[in-house]
Amino acid sequence: ITVKVNTPQAPVQPTMWGIFFEDINFSADGGIYAELVKNRSFEFEKPLMGWKEVKKEGKGNVLIVNRGPENAANPRYASISVNGVYGLANEGFRGIGLQQEAAYQFSYLAKAKEGSLSGKVVLLDDKGQPIGEAAIPAAGKDWQRYTVSLKADRTVAKGSLQLVFSGNGALDIDMVSLFPEDTWKQRPGGLRKDLVQLLADLHPGFVRFPGGCIVEGRDLANRYQWKKTVGKIEDRTLIVNRWNTEFAHRAPGDYYQSYGLGFYEYFLLSEDLGAQPLPILNCGMACQYNTGELADDDDVETYIQDALDLIEFANGDAATKWGKLRAEMGHPTPFNLRMMGVGNEQWDSQYIARYQRFEKVLKEKHPEIKLVSTSGPSESGDRFNYLWSKLKNSRADLIDEHYYMGPEWFLKNAARYDNYDRKGPKIFAGEYAAHVRDKEIDGAETRNTWGSALAEAAFMTGLERNADIVHMASYAPLLAHVDAWQWRPDLIWFDNLRAVGTPNYYVQKLFANNLGTHTVPVTMNNTVLTGQDNVYASATIDQNTHRLLLKIVNASDKPLNYKVALQGGAPAKGTPVQQVLTSANKTDYNTLEQPGVVKPVERQLKAEKNGVNVELAANSLNVIVIPY
Ligand code: AHR
Repeated sequence: ITVKVNTPQAPVQPTMWGIFFEDINFSADGGIYAELVKNRSFEFEKPLMGWKEVKKEGKGNVLIVNRGPENAANPRYASISVNGVYGLANEGFRGIGLQQEAAYQFSYLAKAKEGSLSGKVVLLDDKGQPIGEAAIPAAGKDWQRYTVSLKADRTVAKGSLQLVFSGNGALDIDMVSLFPEDTWKQRPGGLRKDLVQLLADLHPGFVRFPGGCIVEGRDLANRYQWKKTVGKIEDRTLIVNRWNTEFAHRAPGDYYQSYGLGFYEYFLLSEDLGAQPLPILNCGMACQYNTGELADDDDVETYIQDALDLIEFANGDAATKWGKLRAEMGHPTPFNLRMMGVGNEQWDSQYIARYQRFEKVLKEKHPEIKLVSTSGPSESGDRFNYLWSKLKNSRADLIDEHYYMGPEWFLKNAARYDNYDRKGPKIFAGEYAAHVRDKEIDGAETRNTWGSALAEAAFMTGLERNADIVHMASYAPLLAHVDAWQWRPDLIWFDNLRAVGTPNYYVQKLFANNLGTHTVPVTMNNTVLTGQDNVYASATIDQNTHRLLLKIVNASDKPLNYKVALQGGAPAKGTPVQQVLTSANKTDYNTLEQPGVVKPVERQLKAEKNGVNVELAANSLNVIVIPY
């Protein structure tokens, strides 16, 4: 294998490998957004879903009151009357995960109505035994937030919470909340630290948010509207999640978007990760897999205005309306938004008509913002080709292509972009994953097997080799709760306490952590490696650190030995390193109980004159780093 380290070709975009975040599989509520109370504001369709009465002594009852237009964003609250001991219990999102000795912050909005009540919050284990409690200060006559800190004396994965009042009286409550205090960057009401850490370890170049189909919504009324996700938490309007019923075997009716993780938090997360934010906006079309509703032609202006206002929210100064809100929320400096997507997986001429209206206004008013348009899933065939034929000559900077296909497709398509038109828009491989349709694996379909990850790795060499036109790529979906998923495979799995990276996660990590600044040619017998003898390869160099970053996938069932020669470069200066990702069987996968079945191992190589000898295990991804 020959690598021309002194022939830099295309610059590799810092955005090359990113992440796709969508609130699917309990990714946000019940997942990375660390709130532990489900239906905290009683706004689910069934207002007491997730709640149960706690009847101890005497009498008590709960009524749900709707204050209507007085508080249109958060109309409902619970009104509780007690004569004895009475309260409410919350089951959390598939239980409440509690860590021994960790501190939790309980808070709620409350208003005393009559009589005198004392309250306490109790943490319970999975058998209903108390494992921590704290008294709550007596409520005053006006709505006010009350906060107490408490600890659990045991670790439980599926605990619960009780709010218990004693005495004779009545009070109103809303926004009942429990957060771990140890969140990502210790932000109160923040994100789950272990999950964000896994994302940070990927060093993603961008964060695409908030989806996915939830951008579109099952109908336009339930589309993602970013303006309803910013400002005070209690003023954000909850909606039903588009993934609440579709494939609902693991979200039977209780999947909503509280928007505790809203656009401000997405921008902040992107900044924390050192990644460029890529918001995707609704273009006036609801999800075609649901109602497929279209916004009336006149209404499209509203959607375009939302896009303009979002740029102001992200980049405007505090003298602007939306920039002021961002500053008030705690971020006076701009978020440096540089790109935006219009529509997710939209189809046909209706999309083109809407996209063109966005393009006209955005290119005129904000030429600095790159526009991402969409050709949707490659498997949609004629539709995909139709959209490409229209967008090819548009002013879109990037086209978002999706592919959820079998591993064979990924292997066959490793050269997909080798012959793409260099004069058209750049490529954003915005959603992809190899789906293994093998019912023999654990009696279920589409696990995150090593075989699926290996095929993706082979395909990714093709993305990297074509870095002149492929500017961004993201695996999808990103996160999934083991007890509440609607879509599989996913990059990272978690329960209420633990998280595990899949083999696919380690593939992403190996590519993203060995990005480089420029592609360089890599050949065997003067031929580019796109699957000959089941070998796939791509290479970059890092001109700042003078390292070659060679990726080789051996997708054959036998080990292979090669000499890697650095043509035109000096011999290796320092110790070359080989990172190997492989597993005994292509059907292997990682679980929360056995997270390390498929994990990279690193070994040092001996520098030979002009290169190194490498052994490539059967079915392996190898990243070979050679200082030169
Ligand atoms: O990633 C899951 C879904 O796949 C996304 O929401 C959608 O864009 C695609 O169909």
